[in-house]
Amino acid sequence: MYLPTNARILTIGDGDLSFSRALLAHVAPENLIASTYDSESTLRSKYKSNALDDLLLAGVSVFHGIDITNAKSVQQLPSNHADIVIFNHPLVPTQKTYAQYQKERNKTANLMNRNLLYHFLKHSFKWLLSSNGERLCYITTKSVKPYSHWHIETSLTPIVESNSNTSGLVEFIGSEAFDVSLFKHYLIRNVDRDKCVKHEASDIYVYSDNNVHSIKSRLTTFKYNQKGYCPLCRKGPFANSEDWVLHQNTRIHKAQWQYHVDWLEHQTIL
Ligand SMILES: C[S@@+](CC[C@H](N)C(=O)[O-])C[C@H]1O[C@@H](n2cnc3c(N)ncnc32)[C@H](O)[C@@H]1O
Repeated sequence: MYLPTNARILTIGDGDLSFSRALLAHVAPENLIASTYDSESTLRSKYKSNALDDLLLAGVSVFHGIDITNAKSVQQLPSNHADIVIFNHPLVPTQKTYAQYQKERNKTANLMNRNLLYHFLKHSFKWLLSSNGERLCYITTKSVKPYSHWHIETSLTPIVESNSNTSGLVEFIGSEAFDVSLFKHYLIRNVDRDKCVKHEASDIYVYSDNNVHSIKSRLTTFKYNQKGYCPLCRKGPFANSEDWVLHQNTRIHKAQWQYHVDWLEHQTIL
């Protein structure tokens, strides 16, 4: 993970704050702001062993109850401040929320999680990132299903709203493997309960409105965007048009296509 010296880091939705605490090995406490979606009392009761007091003792600013999808909530965080905003292992809580959302809009978990990530990027680039800083957002997630079905490289951007005068569009600029050994005592927390999620191969997906950022030299670009590949299924290259048609008729492709169409429809009301 690219964490340059003196970069101001902001974490979003950091379950038990153990990732933010592990970041202190890389950044100074005054350059770190941590946030949780849960309120302080929920955090303390949900995760018996959490890193809140360690962060407070180190002098880190911690904000609770920050819903990254909600503009008013996001604006409680320092604006125009961070160089890098990080959301590790984002996941919409399943309790209540899925049921509510499905009732309201008859949509799926896939759509809700895309919606979460889209707003993370939109609000970070509109309010949270410093207009003259690094201008980077990181999403760390596993690259297996159901996460791979979010089409994270292609579906969340471009985002046009940004607080930088000189910026272009916010785009996915590449990914790198997440090296968990760099983050001591970091536990990936279950979104709903006092449980841990197993550490498995994960990638950091990097977004910026600076398409020539030097970070690109360490990132892998998304090859499935090229002609002859299927970006939704990450398959290809297809040898000829018959192979491509066969692929389009597979059950797997049809399911991915449906996620894509649902998201396009949802974007019209964002
Ligand atoms: C699987 S947990 C991962 C927790 C933590 N980031 C980690 O890496 O251990 C998913 C996290 O997403 C957060 N989250 C879900 N919806 C959110 C929202 N609307 N705004 C901010 N965070 C959210 C949850 O609170 C939860 O902590």
